[in-house]
Amino acid sequence: MNERKGPVTLKIILIGDSGVGKSSFMNRYVNHRFTNMYRATVGTDFLSKTVNIDGDTVTLQIWDTAGTERFQSLGTPLYRGAHCCMLVFDVTSKASFSALDLWRKEFLVQGEPQDPSDFPFIVLGNKTDLSDREVSGRSALQWCEEIGAEYFEGSAKEDLEVEKPFQRAAQRGLQQV
Ligand code: GTP
Repeated sequence: MNERKGPVTLKIILIGDSGVGKSSFMNRYVNHRFTNMYRATVGTDFLSKTVNIDGDTVTLQIWDTAGTERFQSLGTPLYRGAHCCMLVFDVTSKASFSALDLWRKEFLVQGEPQDPSDFPFIVLGNKTDLSDREVSGRSALQWCEEIGAEYFEGSAKEDLEVEKPFQRAAQRGLQQV
């Protein structure tokens, strides 16, 4: 048990191309729901979930950003004050994986974290339930090693490995408080 007192709220941001499943992953984690219907996120949305992380009660404020707003100035204020950033791609789309480098850079420029070299990024490969995979776990891991991020993959649809990345995001985020 550590010395932290009082409730802690952590801001976790999900970014990545449109359609990779950011809203779906967040909804599966917070509301235990999934839909095949695609509804583009307009602006941003956040959901809260209170969890216990290594003895601390922590409220996660999970921000789901619209993938189509890439590189627009609207992103700027949203990224500020984040404790952890989840870079989401679709394992059946190489383009969505390649785009993460830009998403990450944009986050660092606009979010202005205090210590950019130590800021926690979690990379999340979604849609592992699909067979037409274009990005191997190995190549994703390799890139994560290069940038010092942690890698998880799973499926919002099949509820595979949904808890772990958020659990880890919370742990890493807590280290920023
Ligand atoms: P934007 O709001 O445009 O940024 O998209 P998003 O990244 O939030 O994607 P969203 O969660 O809306 O999902 C896009 C589509 O992918 C929807 O039709 C989902 O049903 C589908 N989808 C999401 N996760 C999965 C998954 O794990 N497996 C499969 N097969 N489909 C998924």
